[in-house]
Amino acid sequence: MVLQDVSLNIAQGESVALLGRSGSGKSTLLNIISGIDMPDDGKVNVGGLDLTALNEHKRTLFRREHIGFIYQFFNLVPSLTAQENIEFTLELNGVAANEISARVLALMEELDIADKAARYPAQLSGGEQQRVAIARALIHQPKLVLADEPTGNLDAQTGQSILQIMHKLLKEHHGTLLLVTHSLEVANSADRIVTLDNGYLQERDSGFAW
Ligand SMILES: Nc1ncnc2c1ncn2[C@@H]1O[C@H](COP(=O)(O)OP(=O)(O)OP(=O)(O)O)[C@@H](O)[C@H]1O
Ligand SMILES: [Mg+2]
Repeated sequence: MVLQDVSLNIAQGESVALLGRSGSGKSTLLNIISGIDMPDDGKVNVGGLDLTALNEHKRTLFRREHIGFIYQFFNLVPSLTAQENIEFTLELNGVAANEISARVLALMEELDIADKAARYPAQLSGGEQQRVAIARALIHQPKLVLADEPTGNLDAQTGQSILQIMHKLLKEHHGTLLLVTHSLEVANSADRIVTLDNGYLQERDSGFAW
């Protein structure tokens, strides 16, 4: 049993940091919230829809449209350029072809990576790859963004600036963020902090000892 009696409500537009030691179930919880893994018991409601009541195909479509993922190791498609990696999200969501590149280039501009549009992931630094990954996760303005240690592999300064951009972009479309991190500094950028310990989720109170 990885997760037990986990109950968590996050309001639309809120950001929540999730802390917990390695193996405590953080990634499992993200996979359950996004409908990649199914819980043995319990419900997952995202934006008013019970994901556990949908079949796999419908869950995939829901995820594509309403959820954005940011991973610790970026997970870009190596054979696609930076721009194509981001465009792919909109293509999957059926956005009109003539709209796609303008939207993607505008966001790349905002993330200061427009000059890297034609590069492949292997030709980008870690921070640049992570900005491409953020653009890919946010370009379709998803209701919910799940970020699993998005700044874990970046230096502190690059991590902070990437975090700020992420929060700013999310605010613009009132997107919700669940952010897994091992860093208290990163966690403090969120509206709320919850911790996972031995499968149990707790809202962190002010008396929490670190
Ligand atoms: N596919 C799997 N099959 C069986 N057990 C798994 C699987 N994936 C993870 N686990 C186990 O479930 C537990 C929780 O793993 P999880 O990946 O959710 O931890 P985590 O909190 O994200 O850890 P980390 O901080 O190291 O990323 C661990 O004991 C892990 O070994
Ligand atoms: Mg994990």
